[in-house]
Amino acid sequence: MQADPPAAAGPVLSLDGIVKTFPGVRALDGVRLQLHAGQVTALIGENGAGKSTIVKLLTGIYQPDEGQIRVDGRPVTFPTAQAAGRAGVTAIHQETVLFDELTVAENIFIGHAPRTRLGLIDRRAMRDRAGDILRSIGADLDPAARLRDLGIASRHLVAIARALSIDARVVIMDEPTAALSHKEIAELYDLVETLKAQGKAILFISHKFDEIFRIADRWTVFRDGQFVGEGMMADVTEAELVNLMVGRSVDQIFPKRPARIGAPLLTVAGYCHPTEFEDITFTLHAGEILGFYGLVGAGRSEVMQSLFGITQPSKGACRIEGQVRVVRTTAQAVEAGIVYVPEDRGRQGAVKGLPIFQNVTLPSLARTSRAGFLRLAEEFALARDYTQRLDLRAASLDQDIALLSGGNQQKVVIAKWLATKPRVIILDEPTKGIDIGSKAAVHDFMSELAAEGLAVIMVSSEIPEVLGMSDRVFVMREGRLAAEFTGTAMTPENLVRAAVGLDRQREGEAA
Ligand SMILES: Nc1ncnc2c1ncn2[C@@H]1O[C@H](COP(=O)(O)OP(=O)(O)OP(=O)(O)O)[C@@H](O)[C@H]1O
Ligand SMILES: [Mg+2]
Repeated sequence: MQADPPAAAGPVLSLDGIVKTFPGVRALDGVRLQLHAGQVTALIGENGAGKSTIVKLLTGIYQPDEGQIRVDGRPVTFPTAQAAGRAGVTAIHQETVLFDELTVAENIFIGHAPRTRLGLIDRRAMRDRAGDILRSIGADLDPAARLRDLGIASRHLVAIARALSIDARVVIMDEPTAALSHKEIAELYDLVETLKAQGKAILFISHKFDEIFRIADRWTVFRDGQFVGEGMMADVTEAELVNLMVGRSVDQIFPKRPARIGAPLLTVAGYCHPTEFEDITFTLHAGEILGFYGLVGAGRSEVMQSLFGITQPSKGACRIEGQVRVVRTTAQAVEAGIVYVPEDRGRQGAVKGLPIFQNVTLPSLARTSRAGFLRLAEEFALARDYTQRLDLRAASLDQDIALLSGGNQQKVVIAKWLATKPRVIILDEPTKGIDIGSKAAVHDFMSELAAEGLAVIMVSSEIPEVLGMSDRVFVMREGRLAAEFTGTAMTPENLVRAAVGLDRQREGEAA
């Protein structure tokens, strides 16, 4: 840790003229990036701009074709992940592999445990240092505890401690809050503050402007693999950043078109689940976009999963156009005209190893399977239509979906479900991980589908999105439909009050 201090105010880590190409794609085209001690630098750019590629270059997963990486002004290379670690560069990943049978300390130091002079693992030093790291991030965990006895939140802290166990000077976070609950997000912000105070240089990648403005000190914008600018957060507005990022101004983020609300399409009556939700009753009309707002854990996704046949309700009935439909499997749901685009599209969506176009057409093969070469052409046309409407950025539709950037993979999964031509579409956090420019494309598509007479349910935790896109909003709290808002009652305040239960308290006070 006590290496020579960096030249005053110079960047801890800098990248210059970095080029990285993949077959058919120039992912990075001469970019620069500087990270400073005790400061958070936000790296901002559209889906496919090259952000995650930078992370992979800094953690030894990829090598640059051209350009220079410097630490404290000295040129370095990161041929392996270990080399990056030795230089003090670490990334906090969501998918860190942990081992249930090992202790907290062993999990933190696996692969680089402190050794005694005889070369044996120094268990005491390992426990002590694990304790120090855990304390430094405010985690009250026993280093000797077995991992299998810990809950999810504690495991997350162990993963973070593991990332920091290499005496990191540079900490990288690539969309760290995408999979976290409100409470965990607040804890992550605290952690970032702690790391800043410890003098670490932090690279923070996010599509959420509110959090960028909340925690970043500096910004760097990439567009199409090129550096377009950098500066201090204090000197820039959101509109300016969006303009740099997208290359145009994005003012109409919610292009909701008025649609004619038609006849009832889906009626859900008295849906119950033993543990997740109770007495869910509502009617969804053709042409309607129905928003579902609530805190994480309120049961919104669970209700949607049971409508899609992933889980079974213990009670209740579901009607489509007045006809009772029994939906026990997702195949029956698709058959009934209901599709659900899950929030966790990585795990539940993309089939890695298959080309993009087949990922789109997989569930709608029945529509395109007319035999022979016709079918391939049709498949391709279908995939092209849907992916274009969602603003997909890909070199070609023949490409393996695994080679797309995170946000672009998500667009393919959305396209896949929409291509089945459902009557009812349930979208769970439809624009999570999708850049601000492409969000408009997703919203536009939703609006178009509603105008065509489909019915849309949108589960979203983003209030502007809920208010901007919905004809009507349900708020769920603790597994129940807590409130319904339409028209002028659809305000941020009303939504939040209903979500946290303040509305009920007020009623109680009045009574
Ligand atoms: N191994 C690879 N093979 C081919 N192309 C790749 C590979 N890895 C990345 N790319 C391409 O490089 C470009 C940059 O991708 P990258 O993942 O860095 O984007 P990103 O800025 O992280 O986007 P997102 O916001 O969607 O996560 C994309 O066009 C992507 O398809
Ligand atoms: Mg990415």
